Amino acid sequence: MNNLSAQQIIALEEKYGAHNYHPLPVVLAKGKGVHVWDVDGKQYLDFLSSYSAVNQGHCHPRIVKAMQAQAEVLTLTSRAFHSNLLGVYMEYITQLLGYDKVLPMNTGVEGGETAFKLARRWSYDVKGVEKNKAVIIVAENNFWGRSIAAISSSTDPSSYGGFGPYVPGIVKIPYNNVVALEEALQDKNVAAFMVEPIQGEAGVVVPDAGYLTKVRELCTKYNVLFIADEVQTGIARTGKMMACDHENIKPDILVLGKALSGGTMPVSAVLANDDIMLCIKPGEHGSTFGGNPLACAVAMESLKVIVEEKLAENSEKMGEVFRTELRNLNHPIIELVRGKGLLNAMVIKTGEETEHNWNTDGELAWNLCLKMRDNGLLAKPTHGNIIRFAPPLVITEAQIHEAVSIIKTSIDQTVSVAV
Ligand SMILES: Cc1ncc(COP(=O)(O)O)c(C=O)c1O
Repeated sequence: MNNLSAQQIIALEEKYGAHNYHPLPVVLAKGKGVHVWDVDGKQYLDFLSSYSAVNQGHCHPRIVKAMQAQAEVLTLTSRAFHSNLLGVYMEYITQLLGYDKVLPMNTGVEGGETAFKLARRWSYDVKGVEKNKAVIIVAENNFWGRSIAAISSSTDPSSYGGFGPYVPGIVKIPYNNVVALEEALQDKNVAAFMVEPIQGEAGVVVPDAGYLTKVRELCTKYNVLFIADEVQTGIARTGKMMACDHENIKPDILVLGKALSGGTMPVSAVLANDDIMLCIKPGEHGSTFGGNPLACAVAMESLKVIVEEKLAENSEKMGEVFRTELRNLNHPIIELVRGKGLLNAMVIKTGEETEHNWNTDGELAWNLCLKMRDNGLLAKPTHGNIIRFAPPLVITEAQIHEAVSIIKTSIDQTVSVAV
């Protein structure tokens, strides 16, 4: 704790920190459930949930308790030795999600890297792709992090621009387009297609019903691995445990992160069956912190909270209420409201629409987020004129009503200033 003002804290970050983010000007000091509080004690509804990492709500008592208890006993062994929790966690998560094996990592981007490596190795060892010729197909407007392979997969210049040379063997096709996918699958060197079931950072882009089913069919037909990046969509965010569950399909490789720890520490996981996972041998992949005992205790409790508190069900229900109420506002600056469960976005009209909404000026969306902050709700634009709304999944119906009322008031206030 300190007695610095919000302005002083922001100034310290500006002076001593790299300028690699552009946060909304609010300085948070406390969180509980759906709420966060700033350094002056002002309360907000958190409608970002740290990009869906805090699905279980801030500082969930069960997760904090599990974390504290384990922190007092053993936090890290490295994988040089076994810990008494790793096997137990591995059994729990694989049985819960229906895979033979799990490979534990820390951040989401490491999960993506792991999936890429697994797919490449599988393509050489099992599929018979010629050495160093493997191709991974990704969808345009994807986001899976900031590593060199992740930005090499990106079609967003602010992500990849100025950081070349890029990782070869990555082919980009339009999202939600099975014709383009089938065309790309004609290349016999394709190892995998990696895709988000709903594109989060792109602005909560929901593909057509049946897209994922068709992706599953095509990947099977062409003997290519289907990698689902559920780092943002997974763990009940979209109203099912996994977004792929909406179409009852099972990817070959599942990548999870974020809410796997309820937002308490970086925990990620890659799940696959033996024919894929056992392609990686001892010493060929890993991480000092991956699968540490603290992470195992926290991840198990975080998943149990999701299941036992029926957060997928609540996400589905509250998401319906939220979208309906937001659409009913019928406000002329709202272009559209879209989403699934509690992963939603409101697209703001800008008056200069282009084919790609995110290239338009996002000043109105930014000002609206500032106004919502003033009125007690935190959200942030993603790509200019799209505002993502993703509260913790423990949110109640009364809190949804409260949020929509804040959004309405804030729109009215922002627009009256803008015109
Ligand atoms: C779909 C998806 N994959 C991967 C990542 C990367 O996760 P991390 O920031 O933990 O590396 C993100 C982050 O927002 C994401 O949304």
